[in-house]
Amino acid sequence: MKAVRVSLEESESVRQKLISRSALDKTRKLVKKNGFIEIPITGYFNADEFTLVVQEKTEYYSKEKTISSILNIPEIEKKLLPRGWQILGDIIIIALNEKLEHRKTEVGEALLSLYPRCKTVLLDRGISGQKREPLREIIAGNGTETILKENGCFFKLDTMRIMFSQGNLAEKKRMSELGEDETVVDMFAGIGYFSIPMAVHSKPKKIISIEINPVSFGYLKENIALNKVGNVIEPIAGDCTKVTPCEMADRVIMGYLNGHEYLPHGISALLPGGILHYHEAVPEAIKQRPVERILEASKEQGRSAKIIGMHRIKKYAPGVWHVVVDAMVD
Ligand SMILES: C[S@@+](CC[C@H](N)C(=O)[O-])C[C@H]1O[C@@H](n2cnc3c(N)ncnc32)[C@H](O)[C@@H]1O
Repeated sequence: MKAVRVSLEESESVRQKLISRSALDKTRKLVKKNGFIEIPITGYFNADEFTLVVQEKTEYYSKEKTISSILNIPEIEKKLLPRGWQILGDIIIIALNEKLEHRKTEVGEALLSLYPRCKTVLLDRGISGQKREPLREIIAGNGTETILKENGCFFKLDTMRIMFSQGNLAEKKRMSELGEDETVVDMFAGIGYFSIPMAVHSKPKKIISIEINPVSFGYLKENIALNKVGNVIEPIAGDCTKVTPCEMADRVIMGYLNGHEYLPHGISALLPGGILHYHEAVPEAIKQRPVERILEASKEQGRSAKIIGMHRIKKYAPGVWHVVVDAMVD
């Protein structure tokens, strides 16, 4: 866990400075060590002007508290409380049983007291439409924009308006290890979920990142700047059926779960021998469907595809898996 090391005299002024930058980790205690004070900071804080240390021993405030122990509600309602929630940067996102709707403010406040470094709690009601827009409501605190760090990359987003999946971390890591010296097209780029880690870690020649949702596109551009990869990523606003270039990519990422109708565009973007990463939500009973769709769409363009990999990413719904199929298209 990271901390900033300061002298006793300057500790209060630095602590205030960290608070004003939302960088103080309020879940951990200040620690005195070798005549210095270690002030705990949040993971994503870039502290060039301070001495950073990694603490061997971390001390937390109120470890034993749970939302159930904080809330003063009947036992029968406590049984309906969720056991988990998502934390993106300093925002908590929670889904509630509809029978607890009338307790949403109390639940939100309880979570804020459990995580003092967080500023807002959002109630999540799912995701809608082609642009994958979340349906969310503030139930405690305020401010919905945040910056989170994942796999050495920074992602800025408005959690009220944009989704951020953490269930596909392994796939994002895998993508970050591919693409060196290549030309890549990311047809459903979002805020840069795959494009940014690939640009940061693999140094492709170029990534063309296409996004239709103007809000996501705005953050994609901000994240390119934040991660200093403007020399690698070319962001394009628009519909990938209209703006995907032809026969120029060594690799194409199709990270959209209902993307089968876009397959012809993904395939035609590839140079002979190029690699396609095609995502789909697939019912268990028809698990060969994405493979058949890739083979069929390639054949329709007079090309042939060889399946070189298939991975389950996460459970999408009962009996339905989010999978990614890798294919080489000649
Ligand atoms: C599911 S999100 C990105 C998912 C991301 N790869 C992840 O793992 O979390 C898919 C993105 O594709 C965008 N999108 C949907 N249809 C599109 C289209 N026709 N052209 C370009 N972008 C599109 C949506 O706005 C959304 O930002």
